[in-house]
Amino acid sequence: MDHFTYRNGILHAEDVALPEIAAAVGTPFYVYSSATLTRHYRVFEEALAGMDHLICYAMKANSNLAVLKLLGDLGAGMDVVSGGEIARAQAAGVPGSRIVFSGVGKTRAEIAQALSIGIRQFNVESEPELEAISEIATAMGTSAPIAIRVNPDVDAKTHAKIATGKSENKFGIPITRAPEVYARAATLPGIEVIGIDVHIGSQLTELAPYEAAFTKVADLTRTLRAAGHDIRRLDLGGGLGIPYTRTNEAPPLPFDYGEVVRRTVGDLGCQIEIEPGRLIAGNAGLLVSEVLYVKEGEGRRFLILDAAMNDLIRPAMYDAHHDVLPVVEAAPGIAPEPADIVGPVCESGDTFAKGRAMPPLAAGALVAFRSAGAYGAVMASEYNSRPLVPEVLVRNDHFDVVRARPSIEEMLSRDTIPSWMG
Ligand code: LLP
Repeated sequence: MDHFTYRNGILHAEDVALPEIAAAVGTPFYVYSSATLTRHYRVFEEALAGMDHLICYAMKANSNLAVLKLLGDLGAGMDVVSGGEIARAQAAGVPGSRIVFSGVGKTRAEIAQALSIGIRQFNVESEPELEAISEIATAMGTSAPIAIRVNPDVDAKTHAKIATGKSENKFGIPITRAPEVYARAATLPGIEVIGIDVHIGSQLTELAPYEAAFTKVADLTRTLRAAGHDIRRLDLGGGLGIPYTRTNEAPPLPFDYGEVVRRTVGDLGCQIEIEPGRLIAGNAGLLVSEVLYVKEGEGRRFLILDAAMNDLIRPAMYDAHHDVLPVVEAAPGIAPEPADIVGPVCESGDTFAKGRAMPPLAAGALVAFRSAGAYGAVMASEYNSRPLVPEVLVRNDHFDVVRARPSIEEMLSRDTIPSWMG
C-alpha cells in the first residue's frame, strides 16, 4: 500500500498535488511519502512481533538523510556497506549499536571507523577479512563482534545481477566450510563471534528460497553451538520483492515472510536481524518528469522526457519495468496508445519503456515513475553532465526539499584544471 493516489484526476503524494511540487522545484524530481515509509517499516515490525529482533534498513536502497532520520526515529537499525554509509547513519542519529556492516570489500580504514563507533556487528565475507578485522581490533585494543556471512548455495530465482546466494556469486563463505571458519575465528584475538549472517538476493518473489536458506542456517546454528560457539544472533538479510506493476501477481507479504522466519529459526532463542531495503523504500517514491517532446517516428511514437537513464538506471541496467503514470489522469473513454518512453541521453539504452500503453500526452505533461524510491536516486549519476535531480519528502499536506538540485556551477566546481595548462 502506498500514499500516491489520484484526487480529482491529479496524482498526489499524500495530500500534496504533484504539479505543486513541480512548480516549486522544477522537473525531474524524486518524491517520497513519509507515511508510506513509516507504514512499510511497521509492516516488518508486525511481521516479527513477539520475536527479539532488529530491522536494519539496507540504506543502499535510499540513503537520503531525511529518509534515514525518519526510519531511525522509528527504531530502525541500519545495514551499511561503506564508510560513507556509516557516516550517513550517524548523521541521521542512528547509534553504532544499531548499525551492521556488510560488504565483501571493507577497507582497513572503514573497519577502524566501524570499530571506533562501536559497531553492532561486522558481517564478515571472507577469511582474509576476518584476519584483517582481528588485527585492527587488536591494535585498537578492542574486540569486534562478528557474524560470518554464509553462502547457502540457494537459487533466489531473481535477476542474475542481484542474486547473491549461489556458490558462483562472490558473497559469503560456502556454508559447507563454515564450521572450519568459525573454529578459526574463535582462536583469533580481537574477534567475538556472535552470530551467522545470510543474504541470498534482492527482489525475491517467492518464499521457498528463504525457507531453504533459513533452514540451512538453523542447522548450522545447531552444529556451531555443539562445537562450543555462542551463536546468539541471526542476520537473515533482506531481499523481499515488491510489486512493480499493479496488474501482476503480488510478491509474498512481509507477514508470510515473518512466518517463514518463525518456522525455520524461531525456536533457536536467537535475536533476529533482517535487512530490508527495497520493500521499505521502493513503493514509497516516485520519479516525476516532464514530457519535452512527442515525436512521431517510423511506426512508433516517442515520449521524450526530461528524465534520463542517469536519473533512473534500473530499466537500462536490469531491463526493469516501472509503471509510468500520467500526473493528470486521462479523461474517461480516451484510449491509450503505445509509446516508447525515452530520455535525452545520447544512447539508445536510454529507454524507460517500449510500446507502453499511455494516454495521449502533449509536451509539458507530467509523468510519474512508480516504485522509484529504492535504487533510484542512490544510483543516479551526472552522465551527460546532467546535475543530480532533487529529492522531496512529503508529510501530509507539506513537502520539504531534502536534497536540492545542484547548480551547473556547483557541478563544475568539483573539477580543476591543472595550472600547467595555463
Ligand atoms: N542486505 C545485503 C547484504 C544486500 O546486499 C542487500 C541488497 C540488501 C540487504 C537489501 O536488499 P533489498 O531488501 O533491497 O532487496 N540495485 C539493484 C538492487 C541491488 C541489491 C543489492 N543488495 C536494483 O535496483 O534492483
